[in-house]
Amino acid sequence: RPRILSGMQPTHDSLHLGNYLGAQVNWVAMQADFEAFFCVVDLHALTGGQVSPEDLRRRTRITAAQYIAGGIDPETSTVFVQSHVPEHAQLAWILNCITGFGEASRMTQFKDKSVRGGGDSANVGLFTYPMLMAADILLYDTAAVPVGEDQRQHLELTRNLAQRFNARFGETFVVPEAHIPAGTAKIMSLVEPTSKMSKSAENQNGSLWMLDEPKANVKKLKSAVTDTDNEVRFDPEAKPGIANLLRIHAALSGESVEALVEQYAGENRYGALKGDVATLVTELQRPFKTHVDELLADPAELDAVLRKGADRAREVASVVLERAYDAVGFLPRA
Ligand code: TYM
Repeated sequence: RPRILSGMQPTHDSLHLGNYLGAQVNWVAMQADFEAFFCVVDLHALTGGQVSPEDLRRRTRITAAQYIAGGIDPETSTVFVQSHVPEHAQLAWILNCITGFGEASRMTQFKDKSVRGGGDSANVGLFTYPMLMAADILLYDTAAVPVGEDQRQHLELTRNLAQRFNARFGETFVVPEAHIPAGTAKIMSLVEPTSKMSKSAENQNGSLWMLDEPKANVKKLKSAVTDTDNEVRFDPEAKPGIANLLRIHAALSGESVEALVEQYAGENRYGALKGDVATLVTELQRPFKTHVDELLADPAELDAVLRKGADRAREVASVVLERAYDAVGFLPRA
């Protein structure tokens, strides 16, 4: 079976609805047809600045638990922690050395995040982050990478690096395809519907956290920014708030956006739309949270899943790393 790999940063206790709809729903859908690897990218979580060791450990476990609660089957898919597989950091070094400084400087996420942190406060890890992500992907001969829209440029870089390496050192890496969903690749903030929902947004009323009290999310949804036009239409340019709510509704209810627009035709239906989205989000959250709580109640069992995942991941990654080491001319240890 062809392989997929994806990952999320354990930078927060809870995933948000954008992570779930933009990435995880696709992970779950694809795990039947692909050999799947889902990584908690804890090395990446250091790039955002200082994080306490306790927070990082807790968030790593809770992120893994959310993969499983969201529908990843650890019996058939490999769930693992990036730092348990040292090959990731090892391959990243080689990829750093075939990446141009200017090329890395053009990554928009680096530019956004380093500017937000005031420029000089950004660490060098944030700059080399995309090459570590490329290593995550290339180590598994990955065919497809299910991610949201914000990772598209990083996938383009990954493809370029794979092709460059192959051209320079001989066929070594599979060139992966990004797998970005149609309707849900960019779930927007509820308070500023022209920006994506994000873990680090200043105004937290814009993000719906999977593990928050449903009440809190209902409240955020009821006060979601819309417009004064009063008519439910799908127009992401003119009506980004309503378009976002329609997309979330469609993804959770399985109905098409067109059918929903018909359903909410007429005056003053914004409240009804918001209320129904709130119900759908609540219904999603309840069993999700229960499952996460169950998994966290038995951390030894969860750690055993991660250990088995790391063993499986290393089986694959060590072979591909060796191929790359050999290709660049590292002397094999006698
Ligand atoms: P991260 O942790 O920021 O986000 C995890 C996943 O969620 C998607 N996502 C969204 N999708 C739709 N709407 C949104 N508002 C939204 N916000 C986030 C992201 O696109 C992502 O798929 N660099 C990655 C982690 C990573 C990775 C990898 C991914 C490291 N190595 C290898 C794939 C393959 C990141 O920071 O994602």
